Amino acid sequence: MDHLRKFFLKKRIFITGHTGFKGSWLTSILLHFGSKVTGFSMIDKKKHFYEKFVDYKKVNNIYGDILDIKLLQKKINEQKPEIIFHLAAQSLVLESYKNPYKTFLDNCNGVLNILEITRKVNFVKSLVIATSDKCYKINGKKIFKENDELGGLDPYSSSKAAAEIIFNSYLNFGKQNKTGLATVRAGNVIGGGDFSKNRIIPDCFKSINSKQIILRNPKAIRPWQHVMDVCRGYLILSKKLYLSPRRFSGPWNFGPKKNDLRVLDLVLKFREISQKKFKIKILKNKNHKETEILKLSSHKSEKKLKWKNLINREAMIRYTVEWYNYFLEKNLGTTITKRQIKNFFK
Ligand SMILES: NC(=O)c1ccc[n+]([C@@H]2O[C@H](COP(=O)([O-])OP(=O)(O)OC[C@H]3O[C@@H](n4cnc5c(N)ncnc54)[C@H](O)[C@@H]3O)[C@@H](O)[C@H]2O)c1
Repeated sequence: MDHLRKFFLKKRIFITGHTGFKGSWLTSILLHFGSKVTGFSMIDKKKHFYEKFVDYKKVNNIYGDILDIKLLQKKINEQKPEIIFHLAAQSLVLESYKNPYKTFLDNCNGVLNILEITRKVNFVKSLVIATSDKCYKINGKKIFKENDELGGLDPYSSSKAAAEIIFNSYLNFGKQNKTGLATVRAGNVIGGGDFSKNRIIPDCFKSINSKQIILRNPKAIRPWQHVMDVCRGYLILSKKLYLSPRRFSGPWNFGPKKNDLRVLDLVLKFREISQKKFKIKILKNKNHKETEILKLSSHKSEKKLKWKNLINREAMIRYTVEWYNYFLEKNLGTTITKRQIKNFFK
């Protein structure tokens, strides 16, 4: 992975949502590579966790709202990043039922703002926007490819599909622009440092104290993968976009080949590896049934980016358990985050 280290050394990088789960890992990996990182996020609960496991003093931290286009534009103009990763979003399906309006604002207008700002400057060479594997229309298809129909019933999924449509329009009319533009559609990501509500791994950890975990959709099959594998994919893509913007612009799936697993089986595996005792309770979901099977084809990423998941199912859960055990003991995760990154990117 030396080509990544060489490429990212001293590069100016701008990450929105850098205090979130993926953003924290991406920030830490880029610090490991010697990049100059600026992060732009909300002041929210995520900031508190971020400061506990990222070397945040080495980052140029900016706190603001991605919906404030003037502020975002000002900061991007000041920093002149060569590469932008747009990860800031309302990222939770259940939250999107409670706050559909805010979900659409953050997930659609946030993308619109970053595209519009990027369109007007010439220093950004590559822009990677995180949408989701949930952006596809569920129509009986079992495996989704990048050119499949967009859809999404719940507000989160449809906001991500809408973001894809906005992106596609900017991509098409902005052909003269020299910036490489891509969306990334990743499957469910796990790893240490996720403290979100109603996500499976954080819930597993909370269950250690409460002695019980509640599952909404035990039989749903998801393409689980480790956060470092996904970040590696984003980094490879951003490098390719930088070097050959036309060739690599467009949407990209990032999913595992073999780590598809039922939610219940992931929790059982987690309980086995962590050797913690907690009960598993299945909840009848009144609101909405999440898609039972969601599989991604990552054939395009495998072929054109030479990317695939390097962390297998067992290792993915081991990395995660190791991270949270360390964090629970020390109430600090910087050392374990750095150790896992060093080990993975050696
Ligand atoms: N975690 C997953 O399994 C997963 C899977 C597929 C796609 N995604 C997508 O990847 C991206 C990152 O996911 P994550 O899990 O790290 O999310 P997260 O919820 O952990 O972090 C979200 C980040 O966005 C910031 N943010 C939210 N609204 C903002 C606003 N209005 N202005 C500025 N900052 C704002 C938060 O402060 C935080 O830094 C999101 O777009 C998400 O939808 C995540």
